[in-house]
Amino acid sequence: MDGTFDLIVSGGTVMLPGGSAVTDVGVRGGKVAAIGALRSGAAEVLDASGLHVLPGVIDTQVHFREPGLEHKEDLATGSMAAVLGGVTAVFEMPNTKPPTCTPEALADKLVRAEGRMWCDHAFFIGASPGNAGDLGAWERLPGCAGIKVFMGSSTGSLLVESDNDLARVLASGFRRVAVHCEDEARLRERHRLVDGGADPASHPEWRDAETALAATRRLLRLAQAARRRVHVLHVTTAEEMDLLREHRDLATVEVTPQHLTLAAPECYRRLGTRAQMNPPIRDERHRRALWQALADGVVDCLGSDHAPHTLEEKSRPYPATPSGMPGVQTLLPVMLDHVAAGRLTLERLVDLTSAGPARLYAIAGKGRIAAGHDADFTLVDLKAERDITRDWLASRCGWSPFEGMRVRGWPVATVVRGAVVMRDGALIGSPGGRPIRFQEGL
Ligand code: DOR
Repeated sequence: MDGTFDLIVSGGTVMLPGGSAVTDVGVRGGKVAAIGALRSGAAEVLDASGLHVLPGVIDTQVHFREPGLEHKEDLATGSMAAVLGGVTAVFEMPNTKPPTCTPEALADKLVRAEGRMWCDHAFFIGASPGNAGDLGAWERLPGCAGIKVFMGSSTGSLLVESDNDLARVLASGFRRVAVHCEDEARLRERHRLVDGGADPASHPEWRDAETALAATRRLLRLAQAARRRVHVLHVTTAEEMDLLREHRDLATVEVTPQHLTLAAPECYRRLGTRAQMNPPIRDERHRRALWQALADGVVDCLGSDHAPHTLEEKSRPYPATPSGMPGVQTLLPVMLDHVAAGRLTLERLVDLTSAGPARLYAIAGKGRIAAGHDADFTLVDLKAERDITRDWLASRCGWSPFEGMRVRGWPVATVVRGAVVMRDGALIGSPGGRPIRFQEGL
């Protein structure tokens, strides 16, 4: 009955699993209760006419820096940026200070998130040689997104370098393991290329394509031996995509909006160390290969790798600068602009940002607009043309590599489990994000 809904999202073009339809969505108790023409009479009506209603965007790779690095970001500011950008759920990375390497550290993040995060959330536990044997038990803890491995060192101290230790990590547990693939030995050996100072454009030479490929090759070999599913984060090279195409039974694949959008050497000339991230932004040949892999269906999801550092930190001389750039708030606008330019369809974008994450991580009750699922929606205006400007950004780091970019397509409302938390660029209500749930036994 119409009157019993808490919220009706009315008259939008709703991206349903089987295609789009101009219709209404009724919400009760934070879940989708009905899809179809609904008479008004709900406690709240969100008029979506002229807009597209997407299943809530899930960003499966963000660094929100709390605890220990709150001068860059914290769980409140990072999640504000998320919902302002149309993101309804995030998976947060373990390279905080201290790193999230124990059940206690995970519990601490969950407590900190309560009443302060605007979007739903899960936290990765970081693998280390010391905790490898315990990971199988810990990966099942409520609020845990799974296990994250750094094969090459990046921001923070987390590292699993040797084949032996990586095999021990992969042998412990059964959920899909998310991996940063850069080969530590090769990184160390090539550091002489930038030792003592270099142009930031050297970043993809130091951390070259072979550094990434060597790690991905090792990971696939060890994952096959362990019969363990893996997820290769932020893939950046044509050669890794060729390899990953042949391992669809074992590995899923993430790309980032920045690797799809920026290219060397131009990005380093224009942005300097603000374009510095790990693995690096590479040249046009690699960027084209990422788009081809996306078109071919090899790419399973997008992650922003939101990795905020202050402008002061970024203005040190390279390579003393930290790697990483913010991105949780710009993920959707930048990708909608690619949709407007015809580089991918809106359906494919929804697959990459909602259905894909839900499928590969076995998220319970999210990832599509369907009866019984969480009422997470991202309302977008595909015709809106807007500039990405600094005053719109909520991240504490206060900048974006995409500042000044004019995009077509914009998030205009964010709904998390039935609560409208963003409308026309303003936050609404209070932070009510909850831990993401995962399917049992997967
Ligand atoms: O560029 C990066 N920054 N890559 C990573 O793997 C970590 C991240 C960070 O946390 O700053």
